[in-house]
Amino acid sequence: MSLDSIKTAFDLTQEHFQGIVTGFKKEYEQGLNTAEAKGLATMIPSYVTRLPSGQEKGTFLALDLGGSTLRVCAVHLLGQGKVKVDEIKRSISMTDPLRTGETSVFFDWMVETVDMLLKKHDLKSDTESLAMGICWSFPVDQTSVSAGKILRMGKGFDLKGIEGQDLKTLFTEAFERKNVNVKVTALINDTVGVLVAHAYNDPDARIGFIYGTGANAAYPEKVSKMVKLGSDLKGQYQDQEMLVNTEIDIFGSDAYLPLNRFDRLLDANHNQPEFQLYEKMMSGAYLGELVRLAALELVEEKLLFDGHIPLEFKEMYSFETSRLSNIESLHDDSVETQLSQLRTSFTFDASAQYQLTEHDLATMTTLCKVVAVRGAKLAAAAIASLIEQQHELLKDQDRPIVIGINGSTFELYPQMPKRILSSLSDWFGPEVASRIRLDVARDGASIGGALIAMLYAEKSVQSQP
Ligand code: GLC
Repeated sequence: MSLDSIKTAFDLTQEHFQGIVTGFKKEYEQGLNTAEAKGLATMIPSYVTRLPSGQEKGTFLALDLGGSTLRVCAVHLLGQGKVKVDEIKRSISMTDPLRTGETSVFFDWMVETVDMLLKKHDLKSDTESLAMGICWSFPVDQTSVSAGKILRMGKGFDLKGIEGQDLKTLFTEAFERKNVNVKVTALINDTVGVLVAHAYNDPDARIGFIYGTGANAAYPEKVSKMVKLGSDLKGQYQDQEMLVNTEIDIFGSDAYLPLNRFDRLLDANHNQPEFQLYEKMMSGAYLGELVRLAALELVEEKLLFDGHIPLEFKEMYSFETSRLSNIESLHDDSVETQLSQLRTSFTFDASAQYQLTEHDLATMTTLCKVVAVRGAKLAAAAIASLIEQQHELLKDQDRPIVIGINGSTFELYPQMPKRILSSLSDWFGPEVASRIRLDVARDGASIGGALIAMLYAEKSVQSQP
């Protein structure tokens, strides 16, 4: 094995790209037609059929649970697409016992955070309950805009007995236990939140994409194509579009994903093997681990670090994705500076007395690049397939095709946006590509949560345009 063989393993050709776009489109159709694809829910209807106009006003709450952060926000909609956000953020480390403990303890912790926010910003009221949108970055099998059963959580969460419970009920009970006067009026996936939030300031937004620890996308689908809704519901929403949470993270199989030996090794070592194969190839939770596995192969062959394993590679997931972008960004400096920087980030056994070389620097930079470039192409394949799924977008040559994107892998990896765009340009050609805009929808999910809470609150305070 050599660096060349690793480069080939991570190479994603146009042929692969074609296979993935076709494979994704097939899974969209299957997911829209069947209640449960592969025993896991994909193409989950959000029951959101309205988008904000940008003119709405009022204060609404949002709670946004991601893989590592809880954000609780009071979103003040000011009209003309403008918002002001008051928030409290709390992080949950990977080893925090909250992640794997009792469900009620975890919900109480979230609700206490809501209470802190209400007190801090003087929003507490005993008479009028504020409407809250819950933005859940995990799959939920929704049965209405405010009801849905929690599916397997992932991202290191393993709460006792949570699977199959209704998300809104869990919150409502916790609000009652803690005597907090808040009413959940909407449950949304973070991808839906991002799309809705982006639509508040850009009506051309047609895809919400998350590219962070996890990866997933939402888009508006014609209800007439959503066989899984059943004829009663289809009738109710006739001629409308509904936002769909694709759960594209779960998509993919050997049939069309070019899984290499490192993907297979990562999957085999994972606590949820054969789950979220696409996501495991490209999202922020895994890019660092893929580099680590590839690097270890070279170390074993004495083709890197002269056969010495640095401390940073000793444990699974010990090499974080942020390190890839740091290493890739070094090239602006002189080789000497690059080397001294790299030396500070790798520690070797003192007895080895090993000093990193220029060869190590070049090899590590290549490894980070090939893994990250493949990630960008895989993100582009999802976006390309969703643009094709809404093929009318390709026809109107004067309109931009806008994708609202949120997530650390997209926002904090400087080369990512350019690489995704260049891959989309290879696929669609420069003319269509020049219409595609990848816009950062910062705070997207929370603002989206508050907007949906507003649109679906039974009694929406000052929410009319
Ligand atoms: C994971 C979750 C999905 C979420 C995505 C992005 O893939 O399953 O629901 O949208 O991460 O946060």
